[in-house]
Amino acid sequence: METRSQWGTRAGFIMAAVGSAIGLGNIWRFPSVAYENGGGAFFIPYLFALLTAGIPILIMEFTMGHKYKGSAPLTYKRINKKAEWVGWWAVIVAFVISTYYSVIIAWAISYSIFSFNLSWGKDTEGFLFGDYLNLTDPGQMGSFVPSVLIPLIIVWIVVLGILFKGVKKGIEVANRIFIPALVIIFLIIVIRAVTLPGALSGLEAFFAPDFDKILEPGVWVAAYGQIFFSMSIAFAIMITYSSYLPKKSDITNNAFITGFGNSSFELLCGIGVFSALGFMATQQGVPIDEVVAGGVGLAFVVFPQIINQFPALNELFGFLFFASLVLAGLTSLMSITETYVAGLVDKFNISRNKAVLFGGGLAAVISLLFATQGGLNFLDAADYFINQFGVAFLGLVEVVLMAWIFRKLNEFKAHANEISDIQLGAWWTVSLSVITPIVLGYQMFGLFKENLLKQFDTPTGNYSGYTDAFIFYGGWLIAIGAIVVGILLSFSKWRANREFKDQASKGGE
Ligand code: ALA
Repeated sequence: METRSQWGTRAGFIMAAVGSAIGLGNIWRFPSVAYENGGGAFFIPYLFALLTAGIPILIMEFTMGHKYKGSAPLTYKRINKKAEWVGWWAVIVAFVISTYYSVIIAWAISYSIFSFNLSWGKDTEGFLFGDYLNLTDPGQMGSFVPSVLIPLIIVWIVVLGILFKGVKKGIEVANRIFIPALVIIFLIIVIRAVTLPGALSGLEAFFAPDFDKILEPGVWVAAYGQIFFSMSIAFAIMITYSSYLPKKSDITNNAFITGFGNSSFELLCGIGVFSALGFMATQQGVPIDEVVAGGVGLAFVVFPQIINQFPALNELFGFLFFASLVLAGLTSLMSITETYVAGLVDKFNISRNKAVLFGGGLAAVISLLFATQGGLNFLDAADYFINQFGVAFLGLVEVVLMAWIFRKLNEFKAHANEISDIQLGAWWTVSLSVITPIVLGYQMFGLFKENLLKQFDTPTGNYSGYTDAFIFYGGWLIAIGAIVVGILLSFSKWRANREFKDQASKGGE
């Protein structure tokens, strides 16, 4: 039997948690989400979501992982036997995310190479969808696209290679190298971006507050969605990472550092992206809203255009931008993959290497679906539904279970306060038991009621034409399938190892 892995140092854990949080969500999602949802005024729902849901849930998940020392399924099982399936549901959501998240990193690898001679040319949209992705109609698969397949294989070799090495020697060491590198590269990009002509107009557009917007419920949904995905909460990651913390660990402080570190980076991304967009709008003599994009469109269509127009060192800045996407993506993908590696180790009592091979191997094989000509369409459907109904819904179930069904908050608070400098008080309890369930419950109710397809039309604004059937089968199947598979997995027998039994006999369950 292997003993449970542990982080080597506190800084190593923080680096890994921040590495998980900072990802594609920060760079390509946050700037456009903020802009489209009220600009400067978006910071009101964003900060509200951060302080009443993001950080409180992060503290709760760190406490759960630290107290019960298990992967998400084991942690939930130890809290209550009947809750194991919630842990698996979160793990399955993470599994699905990893299958397409890896593909976006693969695109970024290709684009860092394309940067060397700006091979995307002038028509960057035509290049992405045609020359590079060879995109088919929605719902069709087509054949493999080798220029996506090869970097995708590299992504999995790197990530699984790091996971094979273990928590301390693999994940911790990789984050200690990747995260400082990412911060340095990104600072270089931002400093260059804010000094470009027209940058100020971009920043003005980004920060200009549209206070009317924040009366719209959709803006709050966007703020919560952003916080959950960006902070890596509610999909098993932070429970898993904190289960490797040593006994003496300052939980609350670590959560504040992780949460504020992530949001600071997010703000930096907004400043960098909008300075660059301001520059491009000025060059083209068009208003900023004509050049704003998010997601795939921002990173792989608009950014290459911006790079084309850079006054000097275009190739270098192109490379740095896509390299930063790769680094941010890899450190998040490691954490997402670790959730099911840990789940398999705990449940089936297999070695870590086997779990990496089976779990990671299966995710890698499924991810090949997104390396086909129809890949982008599949990716978009999966991403939309998992984010809307996977992560936020899971967050709601998690807080309701802990606050109201199992009534664990006081116990968690006592656990966190015993080992942390900052003491949790009424703010934490009220946020988790009242504010977050009400706001998330209201949002979920609205989302289920609303016509989903209408929203689905414009996730990135660059491609559309989905058929209802495709959206239905693609998106809903995955969102509901994650719950069903979670329940099924919780029925399978525990190949309990000694550690599990020890904990159970101490009354850990
Ligand atoms: N938290 C990660 C991101 O923002 C998953 O991309």
